[in-house]
Amino acid sequence: GSVLNKKKDLAGKTFVVTTGGTREPLDPVRFIGNRSSGKMGYAMAAAARDRGAMVKLISTVELPETAGMEVTRVQTAAEMLASVKNAVKGADALIMAAAVADFRPSAVANEKIKKTSAALDLKLEPTTDILAEIRGKFVRIGFAAETSELIDNAERKLDAKNLDIIVANDVTAPGCGFGSDTNKVTLIFRDGHMEDLPLMSKREVADAILDKTMPLLAPRRS
Ligand code: CTP
Ligand code: CA
Repeated sequence: GSVLNKKKDLAGKTFVVTTGGTREPLDPVRFIGNRSSGKMGYAMAAAARDRGAMVKLISTVELPETAGMEVTRVQTAAEMLASVKNAVKGADALIMAAAVADFRPSAVANEKIKKTSAALDLKLEPTTDILAEIRGKFVRIGFAAETSELIDNAERKLDAKNLDIIVANDVTAPGCGFGSDTNKVTLIFRDGHMEDLPLMSKREVADAILDKTMPLLAPRRS
């Protein structure tokens, strides 16, 4: 393997990682989704695994190579919430890289919606904010994908969700688009300090985030 695979500094730790965009059904054949590819969360999970962690990956998307991870496939924000609730029992860290829908259709049609009417009004209702809802002693890391006011928006989320780290990601910056294999992020910590990381592969970003997570982990319970 690469030089990245040599240190097993997360041995004995359990990491829960979510990835992909949730899909909220409208009818049996349609859903409301988003452009998240799941690559950043997958890179986080693979990096944690390669550093010796036990990884529970909760994903909405099919992922390349998940040997040595416990993978749970989910579709909706509600399913993701239930899986995360279960997975965080005894975990050392929760990394919410998933793009979770903020709203879902208020009702799901039993039959395929027909095109007979001239217009279709969709009624949406809010989903539960998983990070805001799930508290515990584990380290909690969120991602903020923004198109403007990156740092202000990310700091607000760090505070509102009481996170240890928020990974602020300007999705309009070059090399940072959805589906890209590279990313450029700013890490914002609970104490307010920030670190700008250079543009690099999502795997390198993941390892850099794990380097910063390491010292926040509780000492191993014996
Ligand atoms: N998140 C979550 N549950 C939700 C929505 C978001 O756990 N229902 C998590 C995301 O996985 C991410 C963090 O919260 O780690 C920030 O998500 P983001 O969409 O940027 O922020 P929101 O709080 O949803 O605010 P908004 O979409 O209005 O910017
Ligand atoms: Ca959101």
